[in-house]
Amino acid sequence: MKTKIFCDIAELDKIKKFSKKKIVKGFTTNPSLMRKAGAKDYKSYSKKILKICYNKFVSLEVFADDYFSMKKQALLINTWGKNIYVKIPVVNSKGVFMGKIIKELNNKNIKLNITAVYTAKQTQRILKSINKKSKVIISIFAGRAGDVGKDPVPEIKKSIALSKKFKNVEILWASVREPYNYIQAKQLGCHIITIPPAIIEKIENFGKSFQTLTTGTVRTFLIDSKKSKFKI
Ligand code: E4P
Repeated sequence: MKTKIFCDIAELDKIKKFSKKKIVKGFTTNPSLMRKAGAKDYKSYSKKILKICYNKFVSLEVFADDYFSMKKQALLINTWGKNIYVKIPVVNSKGVFMGKIIKELNNKNIKLNITAVYTAKQTQRILKSINKKSKVIISIFAGRAGDVGKDPVPEIKKSIALSKKFKNVEILWASVREPYNYIQAKQLGCHIITIPPAIIEKIENFGKSFQTLTTGTVRTFLIDSKKSKFKI
């Protein structure tokens, strides 16, 4: 199975560049990426993104924290385009499972990207809340788990196994930390991986031999020591 590459991004100039790349099949954003990119008005900024990425999937996240406002935002965001996955956090900031809203939106046939997932248990709860028709992405945050010394691989593996009977569900490796995560995601059979732009560029250059790497590494050390005019 092929693992699709999405780009994890919110800067408009980079979105323009990466939307032209054939290997990039879609885009994911989140409120932190939007803030970093300088977005002030969520709606108009999202629409600018959608104008560039009209032909690829775009995940746009709700940022409300309670059921009613979250649902309102989700329904609204969904009207902005046919290529949108509405991103819903698996829990709100108080840790409450968002199953009810996931179920309701899924039954309205709204494409969902359930985000901030870490465990197979959460995947299981999500699967219990959805039908077997409407598209759902489940985003498992591998990098942030690794950041605190936890192995995300068994959770992703189990999540993939649990969702096997759901043809409408895709497991996404989120929170990428290094290019090798793409190989890992492929080996596990993830349907999608979402990757920051700089790491996508490194993946495009995969294939250097160990021989090239070893001489290249020593060359950069030599160049830097010359630049610093080191002497012993
Ligand atoms: C996924 O959709 C998220 O936007 C993203 O992968 C989060 O990654 P981070 O942990 O690098 O912020």
